[in-house]
Amino acid sequence: MNALPTPFAPARAEVAHAGADAAEVFDRLRRHLSPKLALTGSFAGRGAVETAALGPRVTLSDGRTALDFGSYAVTLLGHRHPAVVAAVRQQLETMPAATRSLANPVAAQAAACLAGYLGDRLPKVYFGLNGADVVEVAVKLARLATGRDRVLAVNGAFHGKSLGALALTHSPLYRAGLRGCTVDVVHLDPQDGDAVRRETAAAPVAALVFEPVQGENGALVLPPDVLRTWCADAAAAGALVVADEIQCGLRRCGERSLALAAGLPVDAVLLGKPLGGGVVPLSALVCSERFYAPLAADPFLHSATFGGHPLSCAALPAALEAIEELAPHGRRLSALLDAALERSAARFPQVVRAVRGTGLLRGVDLVSARAAGTVLVELAAAGLLVSPCLSRPTTVRLLPPLVCTEEDLAHGVELLDGALAAVALGTDTAGAGAARAGTAPRHATGAP
Ligand SMILES: Cc1ncc(COP(=O)(O)O)c(C=O)c1O
Repeated sequence: MNALPTPFAPARAEVAHAGADAAEVFDRLRRHLSPKLALTGSFAGRGAVETAALGPRVTLSDGRTALDFGSYAVTLLGHRHPAVVAAVRQQLETMPAATRSLANPVAAQAAACLAGYLGDRLPKVYFGLNGADVVEVAVKLARLATGRDRVLAVNGAFHGKSLGALALTHSPLYRAGLRGCTVDVVHLDPQDGDAVRRETAAAPVAALVFEPVQGENGALVLPPDVLRTWCADAAAAGALVVADEIQCGLRRCGERSLALAAGLPVDAVLLGKPLGGGVVPLSALVCSERFYAPLAADPFLHSATFGGHPLSCAALPAALEAIEELAPHGRRLSALLDAALERSAARFPQVVRAVRGTGLLRGVDLVSARAAGTVLVELAAAGLLVSPCLSRPTTVRLLPPLVCTEEDLAHGVELLDGALAAVALGTDTAGAGAARAGTAPRHATGAP
């Protein structure tokens, strides 16, 4: 097996552990944040909390370490990638905050860098911090640019939880108690190639918004032929096309942008999660002149205090460079993962219903939400952190970082097989026979 071409391997032994007082952390979480998050966090860490991290590994307060194949897709470059940390540190010691009245060179450089990274077909950039920030601004600009209101999204979509983004998110789980949404959205069946043609004929449409791979919906890859037809039909009807690649872009699934690589006629690509190198929060809308026109006419139409924050923007060039350096390694990891997950599914047919996804975004769909919850807890106990899927509770999501070695990947799959075996045999520590159908608590290991 080949060695990892980054400085992580030698540094691993130096991982610090801060020895936090875990009981006090849980008490504060319970009292001032969320009792449920305290509970799920305590399940996942078996009473310990996270204290430090480097590369693909996290150190817990009890001294244990865990491989991180989760972190909701943020840590594509692992934790504390040295080049990203150095860039952010330099900015921290120079000018971390912007005056917002003087021109800021860091945001300008990051925007030029990102537009160039995506091939310069989409020249305009708006920076946010979270994914939902740029979903909101995309919908707002599409409506203003077209003078239309309706938005088409996809069944199973996840675009965030702020009110505007929530209208596009499909799962009713996150809308409970909220009557009505601020955006007029129609959700389409991804098997229905005629859906966009029909909807645009029925009433004017401002935008079509889709994720090429629906991460929170179990790493579901949308059919490329349907996306091609939808995009062409939307463009023909004068609607703007938005690819939300906040989770699946930036080489997570092999390409810088899946939509651009496929030659889809998109007007905007949304990026986030690993865009700040796994060190700082950063998201971006990268779009055409037409899309951006309302904001070009009035930059205060949509602005936020921390938009284009220098500390976040400083990370971007270093993050993209590191991602590109590791992309060939990522392709090798992806091929290994393909084969390994196929073997796991064949070994445990009584527990695994399907394996989905592509690249380093994979979903192992289990026979029940309870089985998935049990696998998550078993894995955390064994030293592998993975993420649940917010919209598909039966699926366990694997998000290995580009910085893990082939040995790390093999070890992760070995731990997965162990957890699947425990669930299949009913010997799991979280409750025997969990594979038998039943409903687990919605978020078994601390999902936000
Ligand atoms: C495709 C996609 N879009 C948008 C979002 C929302 O991002 P955030 O949670 O950073 O607001 C997510 C989050 O998982 C996502 O996967």
